[in-house]
Amino acid sequence: MFITFEGIEGSGKSTQIRLLADTLRAGGATVLLTREPGGCPVADRIRAVLLDAENRAMVAMTELMLYAAARAQHLAEVVRPALAAGAIVLCDRFSDATRAYQAFGRGLPRETVEQLNQLACDGLAPDLTLLLDCDTATGLERARSRIEAAGSGPREERFELEALSFHQRVREGYLRLAAEEPERFAVVPAEGAPAEIAVAVAAIVTGRLQRSAV
Ligand SMILES: Nc1ncnc2c1ncn2[C@@H]1O[C@H](COP(=O)(O)OP(=O)(O)OP(=O)(O)O)[C@@H](O)[C@H]1O
Ligand SMILES: [Mg+2]
Repeated sequence: MFITFEGIEGSGKSTQIRLLADTLRAGGATVLLTREPGGCPVADRIRAVLLDAENRAMVAMTELMLYAAARAQHLAEVVRPALAAGAIVLCDRFSDATRAYQAFGRGLPRETVEQLNQLACDGLAPDLTLLLDCDTATGLERARSRIEAAGSGPREERFELEALSFHQRVREGYLRLAAEEPERFAVVPAEGAPAEIAVAVAAIVTGRLQRSAV
């Protein structure tokens, strides 16, 4: 089972994915928790380039190709082996983020984004995608407080510095993707308290795991 978490900056992906991993592990499951871009040393190096706010000169096509490069490495090195070993793989952002940010946000042709995703994923798609949906201003405010709290570590804020209109396009893009594939996506309202959202997430995932076990 390959489960991905998606949503705008600060929608609570990293918070919720950790809570879900705890819940599943408490139930005895073997869980691999990972993230994109990154998840292994080579892809983490690409992540640093992608999220560095100093890289203002980066054009959209470079961005798209770096995401694809990081994904190819992460799938080969981390995700596919874990799935083959029978783990539940939870991934913080995946190919839908590339669709939402590089196609809907940046305005690259959807077809180009799909081609790169196809090359990077080589047939692997999530079984379930949780889209944490929240207001862009709320999400960005939360993301800024996370960045401030991180102190002297890498700031990883190239996207947080984009205009509100960019994040609005990303949010709407995500909702469009969810409408295109209602079987794979579950849209979770993400403006409540973390514990409340975690209950909704756990119910969706448990339901899906039970169905796939039948
Ligand atoms: N439901 C919530 N209500 C209030 N604050 C929250 C909620 N969920 C997460 N937070 C806080 O908001 C900040 C951002 O949350 P988190 O890192 O989980 O979001 P994210 O979607 O992973 O963001 P990013 O896209 O920047 O990685 C964190 O400081 C977190 O503690
Ligand atoms: Mg996060």
